[in-house]
Amino acid sequence: MNSDQLRKQFLNFFEKRGHAIVPSSSLIPTDPSVLFTTAGMQQFKPYYLGEPCPYGKNVASCQKCFRTSDIDEVGDERHLTFFEMLGNFSFGGYFKEEAIKFAFEFLFKVLKLPLKNAIFTVFKGDEEVPEDKDSPKIWQKLGVPKEKIVGMGRQDNFWGPTGLEGPCGPTTEIHINGIEVWNLVFNEYFKDRDGKLTPLKQKGVDTGAGLERLVMVVQKKNNVFETDLFEPIVKIIRKNKCDLSNTRSERIIADHIKGAVFLISEGVLPSNVERGYVLRRILRRAILHSKILNLPKNSLTEVGKEVIEIYKNVYPEVGTHQADVLTVIEGEREKFEKTLENGLKKLKLQIKSCKSKNEKTLPGKIVFDLFQSYGFPFEITKEIAKEEGLEVDEKDFQERFKKHQEISRVGAEKKFGGLGKVTDYNMVKLHTATHLLHSALRKILGEKVKQMGSDITPERLRFDFSFERRLKEEEIRKIEELVNQKIKEDLEVKKEEMELDEALKSGALAFFKEKYPEKVTVYTIGDFSKEICAGPHVKKTSELGIFKIKKEESAGKGIRRIYAILLK
Ligand code: ALA
Repeated sequence: MNSDQLRKQFLNFFEKRGHAIVPSSSLIPTDPSVLFTTAGMQQFKPYYLGEPCPYGKNVASCQKCFRTSDIDEVGDERHLTFFEMLGNFSFGGYFKEEAIKFAFEFLFKVLKLPLKNAIFTVFKGDEEVPEDKDSPKIWQKLGVPKEKIVGMGRQDNFWGPTGLEGPCGPTTEIHINGIEVWNLVFNEYFKDRDGKLTPLKQKGVDTGAGLERLVMVVQKKNNVFETDLFEPIVKIIRKNKCDLSNTRSERIIADHIKGAVFLISEGVLPSNVERGYVLRRILRRAILHSKILNLPKNSLTEVGKEVIEIYKNVYPEVGTHQADVLTVIEGEREKFEKTLENGLKKLKLQIKSCKSKNEKTLPGKIVFDLFQSYGFPFEITKEIAKEEGLEVDEKDFQERFKKHQEISRVGAEKKFGGLGKVTDYNMVKLHTATHLLHSALRKILGEKVKQMGSDITPERLRFDFSFERRLKEEEIRKIEELVNQKIKEDLEVKKEEMELDEALKSGALAFFKEKYPEKVTVYTIGDFSKEICAGPHVKKTSELGIFKIKKEESAGKGIRRIYAILLK
């Protein structure tokens, strides 16, 4: 059975048993207290607390998930950052009896997995939460021998909440051949920000079976990388690999590029904060390991293409954003490679010097310098140091990092006034000019031009966009002329609030549509430009003066950069 069939079979099974099938939600949750969707229940969180679920009380899904908690384990048989989670859920519908029966039937009757290889864990209780006495009885009624049911504590058999607060409860888990394949959570409590548990008014069920692990067991593979969800990806890496014994590096590349493809296709871009930092970290780690394996330059985009091939029919967004995804991967590779070798040299020297002095810890200053001057994510330096038997001074690094963040934040606020407050009228004008430029580029160079980045200072605008080649003199002149014509027409800049769907339907440009909240602000300039944007902007285009392009250059493969100014 291949992974596609398993996904479908799971959802069919639950559909036949009265569950509404809900599509995967975004990897970027609406819950502001979590960075990524880490479990199937994330999109259903409010329904455990009593809000009625529009799909009904019982649902099932196959959810895209991304977890950083296991990142250091990636490289073994079964840990991943990106994975899919199959799950069935109930919000005040059924409870333990049915949930356990469903899991038993699907694993041992439908998939016909060997019951003799399975172990069932249950919550044994502690001073705060009583023992789950029901689950062992239910398993036994289904034919599970008593000795295969094991009681475990809070650490292993209690799950949740995601984020700072939310539903949680004791679990019962199914392990096959020593691998956890299915977790059944019985949501009976609400955990608040102080860690206090209060019983929920309505009981709920939240289950999760990692698709990759289940496929591994069903396909009788030794590890997830041998399943059809990874095998074609690994093949591409192996094609060019010299050191065939290094499976860890190859697995890290396979997992991290897969994760990167999914994150980028949802609008995450590499940066030094939050989600962007996580993306940068996995991309740079993949790049580093591709160096270790001596892979040719284009292999990471080759891997990316294969990932898209495997998933585009299940998750269309990876296919739709193929060009952007590959451009971002390649752009980050180019950027990082420029400094990687120098950085590595510096790091090796520092490691040598530490060792010669018999020191066991790499100073925080060195780790921070590598981060700031060479773009080495902290974790990568830590990993390399570890291989050499050294620790890193994390506390000192974090202090330096925080200070740096604070300086950047103040800088950004100076630039654009923290919450859209205007600090510099010239920057507002340049911002409106950026919208005109964006539209002019699309009119002159074609609709495939897409914004890749933008930066404004009081003096100039900088605009990055996807385009394959250098712009011709004549094209630059035409773009300037078109922007200046629109300035002369004295067009009105209109601001409207609308639903994201409505905005997209009306043709408003969005960098990546998944990145935005449900309600968005749309700025329209005459009938020339329409973009989802937080502002601020001028009222009429005549305020801008004269638009002048100062420079056009490459900003990475497939990305061009324009610097422009406004003259009075
Ligand atoms: N939400 C549970 C988990 O992620 C099922 O394991």
